[in-house]
Amino acid sequence: PTQEPIDPVRYISNRSSGKMGRALAMEALRRGAEVTVISGPAREPLPFQAEVIFVRTALEMYEATISRFSQYDVFIGAAAVADYRVADPADEKHKRNGDIHHLELIPNPDIAKKIGEIKRPDQITVGFAAETHHLINYAREKLKKKKLDLIVANQVGGENCAFGSDYVSALMMTPQSKDEQPELIPKSELTHRVFNRISEIMGKK
Ligand code: PMT
Repeated sequence: PTQEPIDPVRYISNRSSGKMGRALAMEALRRGAEVTVISGPAREPLPFQAEVIFVRTALEMYEATISRFSQYDVFIGAAAVADYRVADPADEKHKRNGDIHHLELIPNPDIAKKIGEIKRPDQITVGFAAETHHLINYAREKLKKKKLDLIVANQVGGENCAFGSDYVSALMMTPQSKDEQPELIPKSELTHRVFNRISEIMGKK
């Protein structure tokens, strides 16, 4: 997840645990890749064999990713990046006074979209889509808009809701693939399949 500060003690965030990011890093390392993880404040520990860059906000994640991207063959965006941040976080803790408070939220940059704009033809980019509704349609839109080579669409909701679970109901989509149905599988198995698909795409580049 990323965290977007409201004041020195409060922030806006989401339910991402870091399990998916960890599973991806483990699988990439198992296959002999050199791995850099740009991680928000996730609960899950990351493998020590990976280079880990810790960030807090979406803006920090954006800077860390864009400045390094040219050195890498593959980018995988599994982070749950906040789409909005508080326009003017307070320097001092907000005091409770019984009044209604309004927060002005402004859009964060879209990291995966920017990566899609600057990527070289030899670089592969993979995104995720976490959706409560219209999983396939929304994921296909994101695949196109962010110029991704592959997107993993995961269903949010229910017991294995993607966020925080060891399991996920997911399917993979490429610009050429036919739509399939999501399948409930462990994240470790999904990441194995993701890297098999990345290898296929690499072979065709
Ligand atoms: O951490 P876990 O508990 O294991 O949960 C895993 C997960 C659900 C967080 C993960 O599987 C997942 O789906 N990650 C993407 C979550 C998401 O909300 O995606 P999105 O639909 O908002 O964004 C689509 C893509 O654009 C993603 O690759 C995302 O990383 C990227 N993005 C989004 C917003 C933004 N400002 N910049 C981005 O790069």
